[in-house]
Amino acid sequence: MNQIAPSILSADFAALGKAVEEIEKAGIRFLHIDVMDGHFVPNITIGPEVVKALRKNSSMIFDVHLMISHPLQYAKDFAKAGADYIVFHAECEDDIAQTLAEIKSLGVKCGLSIKPNTPPQAVYPYLNQLDLVLVMTVEPGFGGQKLIEPCLEKLAPIRQKAEKLGVKPIIEIDGGVNAENIAHTAQMGAELIVAGSAVFSSANPGAEACRLCAIANEKLKIENEG
Ligand code: DX5
Ligand code: ZN
Repeated sequence: MNQIAPSILSADFAALGKAVEEIEKAGIRFLHIDVMDGHFVPNITIGPEVVKALRKNSSMIFDVHLMISHPLQYAKDFAKAGADYIVFHAECEDDIAQTLAEIKSLGVKCGLSIKPNTPPQAVYPYLNQLDLVLVMTVEPGFGGQKLIEPCLEKLAPIRQKAEKLGVKPIIEIDGGVNAENIAHTAQMGAELIVAGSAVFSSANPGAEACRLCAIANEKLKIENEG
C-alpha cells in the first residue's frame, strides 16, 4: 500500500499546527518536514524547535528531510525534537556511515537521500543499514517544481539491489508529484510519496492527500490484477 507524506513546506507557516491537525484528522500517517540550512541548498526553512512544537499535538510519523551540510551535528536535536525518521543526503559534508550510526544510536529510523544527478549506486554501500531511501525528483531547495522524470528510473535498481541483500527499505520520492503523475510514480516503484504544493494548494489539504493516495493505490491494484 502506497502512502502519501504531505510536505509542510507548502503549508501556511502562520497556521502550521492547524495544517498538520487537518491532514492527521484525514487519516494521513506520514508528515514530511523539510529542513534547509541555506548552505546545502539556497533556502532556509525550519529547525528542531518547530519539529518539537508540532510533536506536542501530533502522533503522525515525522519524516524529517535534512537538506543540510552537516547532519551529524544536528541529528541529536531532531531526534530529541521528535523525529521518527531522519533522512539526510549522500551529498552532505559529513561521513555517511558515521551519521547513520549516530541516527541509529538515537533510536530513530534512518534514511539516505540522493539528488537528481547522483546515481542510485551511491546508496548501495549503506542499503543494509537503511530504513528508507529517498530519491529526489527535483533539485532540493524549493517546493512547487516540476518532477524530473528520469529520476524515477533509479527506483527499480535500488529495489533490486536491496532485495539481493535481503533488506526492504521504504522507497520514497520527493518533488513535483501531482494528481496527473502520481500513478506513474507508484508504477515506477515509489512507495512513500511526498507531495507539498499539490496537497496544500487545495482548499482541503486532508481530502486532497487522501485523493492522491487513492490514485496511487488504485493504479497499482489494477496493474496487479491485470
Ligand atoms: C524540496 C523538498 C520537497 C518539496 C516538495 O526541496 O524536499 O519536499 O517540499 O514540494 P512539491 O511537492 O511542491 O514539489
Ligand atoms: Zn523533502
